[in-house]
Amino acid sequence: MGVSALSKKVIVTAALPYANARLHLGHLRSTYIPADIYVRYLRAKGVDAIYVCATDEHGTPIAVMAEQSGKSCKDYVDYYHKLILEDLLAVGCSFDIFARTTNPEHYELTQEFFKRLLEKGYIYEEEYEQLYCPKCKRFLPDRYVEGVCPYCGSPGARGDACDACGRYLKPSELKEPYCIICKSTPELRTTRHWFFKLSAFQEFLEKWIKENERLPDNVKNFALQWIKEGLMDWCITRDLDWGVPVPVEGAEGKVIYVWFDAPIGYISSTIRYAEERGKPEVWKDYWQNPDAEIVHFIGKDIIYHHAIFWPAMLRAHGDFNLPTIIVAGEFLTLEGKKMSKSRGWVVEIKDYVAKFDPDSLRYYLAVSSPLTKDADFSWDEFLRRHNNELADVLGNFVHRALTFAYRNFGEKIPSAKELDDYDKQAIAEIEKAHSEASKYLDQFDFHSAIRRIIDLASFGNKYFNDKEPWNTIKTDPDKAATTIHVSCRIAKALAIMLAPFIPNAAERMWSMLNLPGSVHEQPWDEALKDLPPDHLIPAPKPLFTKIEPKVIREQKEILRRSLAERTGEAEAPKVSIDEFKKMDLRVGTVIEVERVPGSKNLYKLKIDLGELGIRQSVAGIAPWYKEDELLNKQVAVIANLQPAKIFGVESEVMILAAEDEEGVSILQPDKKKRNGSKIL
Ligand code: 2FM
Ligand code: ZN
Repeated sequence: MGVSALSKKVIVTAALPYANARLHLGHLRSTYIPADIYVRYLRAKGVDAIYVCATDEHGTPIAVMAEQSGKSCKDYVDYYHKLILEDLLAVGCSFDIFARTTNPEHYELTQEFFKRLLEKGYIYEEEYEQLYCPKCKRFLPDRYVEGVCPYCGSPGARGDACDACGRYLKPSELKEPYCIICKSTPELRTTRHWFFKLSAFQEFLEKWIKENERLPDNVKNFALQWIKEGLMDWCITRDLDWGVPVPVEGAEGKVIYVWFDAPIGYISSTIRYAEERGKPEVWKDYWQNPDAEIVHFIGKDIIYHHAIFWPAMLRAHGDFNLPTIIVAGEFLTLEGKKMSKSRGWVVEIKDYVAKFDPDSLRYYLAVSSPLTKDADFSWDEFLRRHNNELADVLGNFVHRALTFAYRNFGEKIPSAKELDDYDKQAIAEIEKAHSEASKYLDQFDFHSAIRRIIDLASFGNKYFNDKEPWNTIKTDPDKAATTIHVSCRIAKALAIMLAPFIPNAAERMWSMLNLPGSVHEQPWDEALKDLPPDHLIPAPKPLFTKIEPKVIREQKEILRRSLAERTGEAEAPKVSIDEFKKMDLRVGTVIEVERVPGSKNLYKLKIDLGELGIRQSVAGIAPWYKEDELLNKQVAVIANLQPAKIFGVESEVMILAAEDEEGVSILQPDKKKRNGSKIL
């Protein structure tokens, strides 16, 4: 893995965020921070690397949200483009270009791309039946329809997917569909659309993925699994007026599907980058020069689009390089729970940067776990890492070394005198940390790389303590000078190696060392080089200020309240004893279990409730229990609910169960009880 030493041009991309919401810490963790660390590292290695991103501004979700908010689509995406960029810059993303998929060069390239594939026979036209709203007088692309999910029976499934069971859907599969704009019932009408012949790339992709040794395993495994299941052609047009118009005569009112135009945004953004630099041709060095490399950073939810769909598109077109590496970051949970904006369980970038140092977040996200594993953000852990690792280990080391130099050697870092074995070992430690960190970075293992670098700071502390310069300064000043010199050399190496991870703190270290230029202009191998002799420095300042536990408690409280406000979860409304007493809670035994036909999650259960007789319950627990695991189990039920029809099947009583991130578990009395016993 990693970029081969010979290649001179590398384009690093981060998935283009949809311009319909601000970003949160999860996005940073999976995609934008790792990409930024990597591109900064490549630049330091002398690679001509550029970091390219843009907002993804088309698609039905954006059209729907704009329409619902009473804004034009353009105003809507203008608003979010600005905020998203602001947030990403605030955490130090060093984009060379942050473009937009509504830019003219993007429309031009997307249409050219489409026409080329059409000419080559990779795009074909077909008639098919689609939902049409007679009142709005238009076809309803995916999210413009909602209805009941045909798989799990949940209402509120959207035309493209059901959030309750996670299935992808076609609008025409929805039961009881309605138009989300006017709520009327749509009808099926014949229309025509264009399809991308993805199926034609089955063999090519299989070979391409299998033979690409640098593709990380998680990406490879997913992609090969999909290929094994067989690739289907994709409908790549929509009936919408927001998007890149289909460049075919008679296709008025149709636009290109957002997932066709979005990845082309990687190229069109590079074109814009080249234009802005007054060298309109240089984009070709990145996309057409066979020695250039393309490294895509994405979240794991869009592996399909980048490892299957996009390479097939590029191959079909023929004029552009294919991705060299796709790095797919796993997700970030928040305090152990899945992040969710709608549930208020989220930390947005803007809220974080209003109170804390972006570097501490970058550090946390990189150090907490490898990109290929899920990670968790917890405020307590954040406090611990900032205070104990950044402030105590790193900050303290740098501050001690520099303060000692400043106070005892005339505001200078003294030259080294004779090196003893320990001093030599310290210099060898710099070399070791440097070579190991480089190896990890080449493998996209940012977690091991930063840990290795912080280990060097820990070593520095130990070395400083063991050497006791506060004693040797009295007994053997040359020895003390050497200790301080070597310590400051470690600090210099740390500044350079930390620059990709914590760019602001690294720059502060560089100024405290009073070294020329910016740390971000230093070659990676400068970390191995010595300091200038007897070198003046300014009065050192602490590198990080510790965070007060009180501030962290406030953050946890903000989070708890936001969840409670959105979901009522943490603070359910109070119920009086009288209200509670109305509920007839009983113990019963499951005596029959059957699947509800057509549903993935539901069982129809018969429950023996003793004196109350046998009652029927429809319960969504199929994902967690097999039929025979439920049979003869005692369960707790609410026995006096109004009967309801679930998926067309009558449900008279409801089973009680506990739910968390891991799934559902039914409640049982701790000893066997007579059927019908009351629960008090
Ligand atoms: O999933 C998303 O957020 C998409 N907007 C990512 C697009 S990445 C690329 F293909 F442009
Ligand atoms: Zn309608």
